Amino acid sequence: MAPVPPPLPARPPHASLATLRTFPAGIAFGGDYNPEQWPEDVQIEDIALMREAGVSLVSVGIFAWALLEPEEGSYDFAWLDAVVDRLAAAGIKAALAAPTAAPPAWLVRKHPEILPVTAEGTVLGQGSRRHCSPNAAAYREHALRITRALAERYRDHPALALWHVDNELGCHVSHFYGEEDAAAFRAWLERRYGTVEELNRAWATAFWSQHYASFDEVEPPRAAPAQLNPTQQLDFHRFSSWAFKDFYLALRAVLAEAAPGIPATTNFMATSATKLLDYFNWAPAMDVVANDHYLVAADPESEIELAFSADLTRGVAGGAPWMLMEHSTSAVNWQPRNRPKLPGQMLRNSLAHVARGADAVMFFQWRQSAAGAEKFHSAMVPHAGTDSRVWREVVALGGALRRLEEVVGSRVESRAAIVVDYEAWWAAELDSHPSQEVRYLDLVRALHRELWRRGITADLVHPSQRLEGYSLVLVPTLYLVHDDAAGRIAAAAEAGATVLVTYFSGIVDPDDRVRLGGYPGAFRELLGVRSEEFFPLLAGEALALDDGTSATLWAEDLRLEGATAVRKVDGGPLAGVPALTRREVGSGAAWYLATRPDAAGLASLVDALVAESGVAPAAWAGASDTAGAGARPVEPGLELVRRRGTDGTGWLFALNHTDRDLPLAATGTELLSGEAFGGIVAAGGAAVVREEPAPASPRTDAAQGEGGSLPA
Ligand code: GLA
Repeated sequence: MAPVPPPLPARPPHASLATLRTFPAGIAFGGDYNPEQWPEDVQIEDIALMREAGVSLVSVGIFAWALLEPEEGSYDFAWLDAVVDRLAAAGIKAALAAPTAAPPAWLVRKHPEILPVTAEGTVLGQGSRRHCSPNAAAYREHALRITRALAERYRDHPALALWHVDNELGCHVSHFYGEEDAAAFRAWLERRYGTVEELNRAWATAFWSQHYASFDEVEPPRAAPAQLNPTQQLDFHRFSSWAFKDFYLALRAVLAEAAPGIPATTNFMATSATKLLDYFNWAPAMDVVANDHYLVAADPESEIELAFSADLTRGVAGGAPWMLMEHSTSAVNWQPRNRPKLPGQMLRNSLAHVARGADAVMFFQWRQSAAGAEKFHSAMVPHAGTDSRVWREVVALGGALRRLEEVVGSRVESRAAIVVDYEAWWAAELDSHPSQEVRYLDLVRALHRELWRRGITADLVHPSQRLEGYSLVLVPTLYLVHDDAAGRIAAAAEAGATVLVTYFSGIVDPDDRVRLGGYPGAFRELLGVRSEEFFPLLAGEALALDDGTSATLWAEDLRLEGATAVRKVDGGPLAGVPALTRREVGSGAAWYLATRPDAAGLASLVDALVAESGVAPAAWAGASDTAGAGARPVEPGLELVRRRGTDGTGWLFALNHTDRDLPLAATGTELLSGEAFGGIVAAGGAAVVREEPAPASPRTDAAQGEGGSLPA
């Protein structure tokens, strides 16, 4: 088996933004600033408007390579000098970009081999952006050169706060199939496996005559007549994530050498929309984790998807504060129908990110383009100018963030963990599985959503991270799992947690090799169940369960081997077969969900898990005793999260996504208004309550381990 990666430290070494010497004070506020689109008088007005809005940090030069190096080796820094000088004079900091995400035409003309090649062999051309492979030697050489030139020029500039390396690495094209990519893949495989025999073993090449005599014979998983080797595909995901990280690290090394002491990051896309890169694996290479998030306009509960992205980003950052590098003030331009945000929505979105650990709130982009590919994408200064709702809301947001400065550096409080893993995501969605309808995020998101609706914050943790401190541990669709991770999950139950494992978990090892002896292999013993065969349901097929709920998608010929059936199939070929089981383990319990419950079935399962584990919402709607007993839950749509400082101060964030005023039992100063909190969160509004005194929450003492996002 391939070597198991060492566990991540419980607290990766990400600095609090507040401790980064170069950073602006407070919650950083700003956005991508692309002044190269505008004449000088507009750029001068930009600064005045930034001051009016309270902007403190802007990302500059992200796609400016062709203007900074109009010809090979000949630089034009004069325009950028003027921009950063103006920013410095106004006290605004710059996240200066390595502008490598859009190579200039002269470089493509000279080195067409840098262009991306798809699995079908199509070469993707210039005229857009990201038209380059991170594995192309010529691209890397020129990217490192322009980056060094920038670092040498601006390293002592007073505006410089942060290096913004490239942009959304892996966006648009994440997997590359050209000759240099193939060579890099082979070299990566050789480092991973050492010998080709080991690769043959891991990939099970004895099947279908795929045996390789040397690494030279191996190719990327290009378009092929039938199913490609699954472990080859899985390794190509791993390699593709590594290739971008390797490129990032090469740029970061140049920056560190040429401009020591300036922190570096790149903007992740840790959302439900993309599984391109393994951000848990990347995060230790960041001085601060940064993320981009865009609302899905067609999603009626887009605030829950936002929360998922923010919680995932915090998980990637190991619980440390992080930067929201981009989101939108209003509509985007790349969804099928691009709706503007409603009044108040941008404030709630921004505060939701802050509630979930962001210490920076930034946008794409500062001023809406008048021309070009993104002219219909909203910005902080819209086409309509400053006499506009968007601008007034931007100015109001700047004021709100200033009033929340004291939360900087605090941590999000959570007793519930959802175990998530990009490798399991990649592997679970390979082809030739029992059901192509099983999507990795389905139950991950469904369980997160159920907790969100109850005002319970979940940490999204990687399987290599410690689980001490969590009372509730959810393990959805963890198809691929390392032995040691399965061991940690079992140990969490032993130690008293309520653990839920769902179907298609624990099935394969890191080589995508099935764990033999019955399903769900790695978790069979913990759960006290065993299946000989899966029984995926057909499209439109539903199972009746004996508690009156129904289920779709998946079932198993499940036998009890120590567990108790909580729900069974009621009728049909699987009549009497367990669909939900529970086994007492140590001082905790391990539940197994062997089917996809309907809404009522999922809700009642989560109610049972919450009750058993004792995890509580961040607050209640109505009066209660200090332990929360007898309290009334908040209405669905009132989002609740608590951040807590090292001195024990709690800040309760309450975001009302409904059109009704909603009650909330909290006492303290509401920071947005500066007044005592009156017990109501206004329709569509937000409250951030500095709690006095700090509330006791159930099981606080039991849950102060290192794993949870609690104050150290
Ligand atoms: C991404 C990119 C930005 C911009 C936005 C538009 O996040 O990083 O340059 O294209 O999308 O939503």
